[in-house]
Amino acid sequence: MHLKIGLVGCGAIGSEIARSIDRGEIAADLVAVCDRNRSQAEELIGSLNGKPLLTGLTELVNLSDVVVEAASQQAVPAVARAALERGKILMIMSVGALANPDLYREVKKTAEEHGARVYLPSGAISGLDGLKSASIGQIRKVTLTTTKNPAGLEGAPYILERKIDLSALRSATVIFEGSAADAVRAFPANVNVAATICLAAREGEVKVRIIADPEIRVNKHEIEIEGDFGRITTKVENVPSPKNPRTSYLAALSAIATLRSIVEPVKIGT
Ligand SMILES: NC(=O)c1ccc[n+]([C@@H]2O[C@H](COP(=O)([O-])OP(=O)(O)OC[C@H]3O[C@@H](n4cnc5c(N)ncnc54)[C@H](O)[C@@H]3O)[C@@H](O)[C@H]2O)c1
Repeated sequence: MHLKIGLVGCGAIGSEIARSIDRGEIAADLVAVCDRNRSQAEELIGSLNGKPLLTGLTELVNLSDVVVEAASQQAVPAVARAALERGKILMIMSVGALANPDLYREVKKTAEEHGARVYLPSGAISGLDGLKSASIGQIRKVTLTTTKNPAGLEGAPYILERKIDLSALRSATVIFEGSAADAVRAFPANVNVAATICLAAREGEVKVRIIADPEIRVNKHEIEIEGDFGRITTKVENVPSPKNPRTSYLAALSAIATLRSIVEPVKIGT
């Protein structure tokens, strides 16, 4: 029997997920969608063959087996509480919200108490499978190096506070080096990737380096992990999503792959 999916957030990622279900690529039914921007939801429903209901959050959760959050960090607490208190499966895309340790603890506790499950897709990065395995043993070092075009860093609190003139850069320049916690405050747009790595690394310390490169057109994430197991290096060069240039297309594909692993009987990879 097909699982019923409810989608919160009908933007770049939500639309890719909905269209993938509509094309039959995920063995599930999209039964309800919601968005704080009603016209965004209506536009999506209009483009689909299957017609999910346009609902509020509570009705969406009641109708669904799996609730997908693809909205915003601000949406996560309410969506998580509504879904987990009803024992539903929840997939969170705005993982950066869980960089708040109080919210992360609450999400874990509520899921445990109600027999619910929470999925955090790999999103815009690769190598999380290896990091999860490595974190069972001792990890000595995890480094995330993100390289972006200076335009992708404009407006970040760190850039504004230090009055860094990004337009003056002529070659690749290290803009920031520090802990993941500091990086999350300094570059909130990088927060999903940093938060996902921190959660997967468990107790392991994560260092973040941000490079601005005027020559680069993709968002590059390189991860280095060293531990008892040996060494892993991964590199992703992300193409932006056509609908939202701040979101990598791989993040939407990762959401679809996670939903598939939820509904399919065979699960591949760690
Ligand atoms: N895990 C990752 O690696 C990763 C990668 C890219 C994006 N993301 C995150 O996934 C989320 C969705 O990304 P996107 O590119 O689809 O964004 P988007 O801006 O294209 O779409 C988000 C949609 O959600 C709606 N929305 C926002 N807040 C809402 C709320 N409180 N309730 C209901 N609807 C709400 C907006 O109106 C919009 O239609 C963002 O938080 C983004 O940061 C995660």
